[in-house]
Amino acid sequence: MKYISVAIDGPSGAGKSTLARRAAAEMGYLYVDTGAIYRTVAVGALRRGVDPADAAAVESILSDMHIRLAYDPKDGLQHMYLDGEDVSEQIRLHEISQHASTISAIPKVREFLLDLQRDLARNNHVVMDGRDIGTVVLPDAQVKIFLTASAQARAERRFLELQQRGQQADFDTVLRDIILRDEQDSNRPIAPLRRADDAVLIDTTELDLEQSLQAIVSAVRKGIAV
Ligand code: DC
Repeated sequence: MKYISVAIDGPSGAGKSTLARRAAAEMGYLYVDTGAIYRTVAVGALRRGVDPADAAAVESILSDMHIRLAYDPKDGLQHMYLDGEDVSEQIRLHEISQHASTISAIPKVREFLLDLQRDLARNNHVVMDGRDIGTVVLPDAQVKIFLTASAQARAERRFLELQQRGQQADFDTVLRDIILRDEQDSNRPIAPLRRADDAVLIDTTELDLEQSLQAIVSAVRKGIAV
């Protein structure tokens, strides 16, 4: 059976995970949040006392790190396991975002995670979100979407999300971190964040959640109809 892949890439805070998850549910596809995988590697490094910026040290612990992705049978949500422990909550801490961005620039880390991501798409219809899904992980995806929004709009959304999670946040710091992460993710030499030539561009700055979802679902339906 030929499985359909929908690749959604874009900068942090563009609404990718919420929208990709809802679009996947609407289409009956599996939702794969690849950022969560990089976040898990970052937590794994920190727990081993390794600085995510120290490429050689990170490379030396990769084979010893056991990373697993599983879906909760009750709510269908993706959970991340690190060395057998469910770390789905810890990976969402604000400080992990920056570490995940740093660690994701290490070529060996990206290589290490490639098969895990591709295997999911080989065996399921997927909506996979990340930074390099349409360009590197699934270059043959039937539908590619580049989802973006202004840095200000993305920071406002991330700030609200952190508040709702009960995490301390300061708006200027959130905005600064978003800009820094955009720079880091877009300028790294390997698999930088960029729009694939054949990706549909969706800018959600002026769209609410429902409008954004409709834009995505209609791009997906159009893409798989051809
Ligand atoms: O989507 P997110 O914020 O959870 O991702 C965390 C970091 O992981 C992000 O700053 C860059 C990196 N990442 C990546 O390099 N490639 C992906 N496919 C997904 C995330």
